[in-house]
Amino acid sequence: MAALSRSTQFDWVLAPYDVRASRAHAKVLHRAGLLDGGELAAMQDGLDRLAVDVASGVFVPAETDEDVHGALERGLIERVGPDLGGRLRAGRSRNDQVATLFRMWLRDAVRRVGAGLLDVVDALAGQAAAHPDAVMPGKTHLQAAQPVLLPHHLLAHAHPLLRDIDRLQDFDRRTAVSPYGSGALAGSSLGLDPDAIAADLGFATAAANSIDATSARDFAAEAAFVLALIAVDLSRLAEDVIAWSTPEFGYVTLADAWSTGSSIMPQKKNPDVAELTRGKAGRLIGNLAGLLATLKAQPLAYNRDLQEDKEPLFDSVAQLELLLPALAGMVGTLEFHTDRMAELAPAGFTLATDIAEWLVRAGVPFRVSHEAAGACVRVAEARGVGLAELTDDEFAAIDPALTPAVRDVLTVRGSIASRDARGGTAEVRVAEQLAAVRRVAGSL
Ligand code: ARG
Repeated sequence: MAALSRSTQFDWVLAPYDVRASRAHAKVLHRAGLLDGGELAAMQDGLDRLAVDVASGVFVPAETDEDVHGALERGLIERVGPDLGGRLRAGRSRNDQVATLFRMWLRDAVRRVGAGLLDVVDALAGQAAAHPDAVMPGKTHLQAAQPVLLPHHLLAHAHPLLRDIDRLQDFDRRTAVSPYGSGALAGSSLGLDPDAIAADLGFATAAANSIDATSARDFAAEAAFVLALIAVDLSRLAEDVIAWSTPEFGYVTLADAWSTGSSIMPQKKNPDVAELTRGKAGRLIGNLAGLLATLKAQPLAYNRDLQEDKEPLFDSVAQLELLLPALAGMVGTLEFHTDRMAELAPAGFTLATDIAEWLVRAGVPFRVSHEAAGACVRVAEARGVGLAELTDDEFAAIDPALTPAVRDVLTVRGSIASRDARGGTAEVRVAEQLAAVRRVAGSL
């Protein structure tokens, strides 16, 4: 029973938050006349000494401590005696305590994750800035589609990460509500002031409903979702890097410091950072799914099942704190082979759409021009040449509107430059986009 019940092996990370909340709780006990001035001072002194001993590792949980809250109460009693130490528990329960401390821990943790994400955004923006005019094959269905600028593609990975940071901030706003003072579920009869504790602990307000405050874990599920989504977004970037570093793509070489060798094949350079990112995304999805399953159909209010809420979140945060600096390092040190990417950019007749759109500008309906461009691809493919190498006669035979001037758009640079509406791949638009990404990142 004791082994099953014990949670100190994982909830000890909440100890500094527990001590901080106890300090705030002592103050409201004093204000309610339940501790006199001398008792408050002695209590605060005991909590200060306990905090020092927790930080230094002098005070640690014992086998007999069920959870972090019980362990710290024992530590306080050892320091100030049972008479005074035993008074702190008045008007609070481990149910409102743990709900409050977990919110505090998560609010700090997602700030650290957000900072790590910003470093990845910076690394992407840095590579985009270093290659302002590099071109590459743009793909859909992993098939050659249309040429795009490399910085355009890199920034397409930065935007979701900026939205994820926005999601974390949104989560924080909703989670800035303190359950402290809710007691076991019904609130406290001792005249304590939940709003004072909430303000003391950095919350925007105290909870409106003590039953909800002690039993709700939607904040934890929301954090688990955003963290899982971050991992999924990072896994898409990781997958690109994995493909790009193969000899078949040959777009990038990974820095030695951010890749690994093989224990048997001397020539190998493996993208382990990217692969671990891809792999851990599965783990973070599992943490979310597991937590949702734990929460499903639990009756109000607190149930011990809720103790299972912490480990998935601790794990998701720990995994991202490992991944994010490594990803920032890997992305920031990628060496791009821009000649190779430029050579592949027109391969697979990626300029066919440019023929169709050129015809549209000459007044041809798109249904007809799409057909004509397709015919150009068939002729070029049969002759084993690129679209620009079709003869004037071949163009004219396909559609009389296809004059030699169509060749003006049959270059990768011309195609890219022509897509100059907002959000498009033209150099001027991508430069604007990079500046905007840096502006948003700098304001976070
Ligand atoms: N350790 C518990 C948790 O993490 C809090 C203690 C509540 N226990 C109780 N029997 N009411 O949820």
